[in-house]
Amino acid sequence: MVSQKSIDLCRPWLYASSMKILAFESSCDETSVAIVEDGRRVFANVVRSQAENHRQYGGVVPEVASRQHLILANEALQAAMDESQLDLQDIDVFAATLGPGLVGSLLVGAQAAKTLAFITGKPFRGVNHLHGHIASNYLESTLEPPFLCLLVSGGHCQLMDVQAYDTMPLLGQTLDDAVGETYDKVARVLGLGYPGGPVLDQLAQTGDATRYALPVGKTQGRFDFSFSGLKTATARLAQNELKADDQTALADLAASFQHAAVQALVQRTQAAQQALGYTTVAVAGGVAANSALRQQLADWCTEQGLQLHLPHMAFCTDNAAMIASAAFFSPLTEAMADEVFSRQKTVPCR
Ligand code: KG4
Ligand code: ZN
Repeated sequence: MVSQKSIDLCRPWLYASSMKILAFESSCDETSVAIVEDGRRVFANVVRSQAENHRQYGGVVPEVASRQHLILANEALQAAMDESQLDLQDIDVFAATLGPGLVGSLLVGAQAAKTLAFITGKPFRGVNHLHGHIASNYLESTLEPPFLCLLVSGGHCQLMDVQAYDTMPLLGQTLDDAVGETYDKVARVLGLGYPGGPVLDQLAQTGDATRYALPVGKTQGRFDFSFSGLKTATARLAQNELKADDQTALADLAASFQHAAVQALVQRTQAAQQALGYTTVAVAGGVAANSALRQQLADWCTEQGLQLHLPHMAFCTDNAAMIASAAFFSPLTEAMADEVFSRQKTVPCR
């Protein structure tokens, strides 16, 4: 049988030495520019968050996001060049996220990268944002496929069978809300502001997770997820039971919510690991920064003798370093780029 490694060796571009890729990430509300060598070594990773611009609306406003990307892109590019101490001529490939994401926002990063490729005479590579999240595990690390990956972000919640750098079939996904989206919506109901995930996570660490029994979403598919029931149950409890100044109950509700949400993620990950027999499990996406998820997966993996790979905190939420890594390991073909770009969202991504 021909192994995946020997197939990969037939594609030398995957292993071209010292390939420096400059990438843009602008799919949602982070404007980011990074330079990464050979998909792993980060020379610069500049992330300009737009959270302040969207906070007053309680979520990302697409029109505001595109305009902010236009305002921030040049400064982020300059900062990345300064940080890396490289010149544009040192860059071998320019890359950008082509989707999924907000169409007006994606156009800003994609057009910036294509323009730089054009003026320097270097190639352009398009990247699928989800491949970027998976590739965040390759940054400053030696991790190689195959592994099982739990991808948990504001827009997605899925389990991927990462067989090779460019072969990662979907095992299961959320049937309704993404887990990050659920955190953001519950945080809004609890009056914790935007973005809700990190604040809710912090508050949950101070509460009693056994106080409220909240549902762990059930699905027919063994590796699928469902979070809308948990979201509605938490919102109903908040409206019916929470008194305005009861900080203890608020923390307990946050902890109970986090317990149910993380249970759902860990249970499906365990089921997929048992079914596929992988000995390495990786996590990706903004919710990979969640303290309870990291802890519970670490405990389980230690108990079972499995390797757990968690991206560095800086590479969990949207950033261009992961896009530069994916541009090295799993760039989109032109046909795939057309496909991914034609399915853009025009609504807020969370
Ligand atoms: O990957 P990401 O930056 O953007 C998307 O591609 O969607 O993920 C952002 C999401 C948001 O929903 C945010 O609330 C969530 O990740 N998040 C967290 C935490 N940090 C960020 N959710 C739970 N716990 C956290 N510590
Ligand atoms: Zn993302």
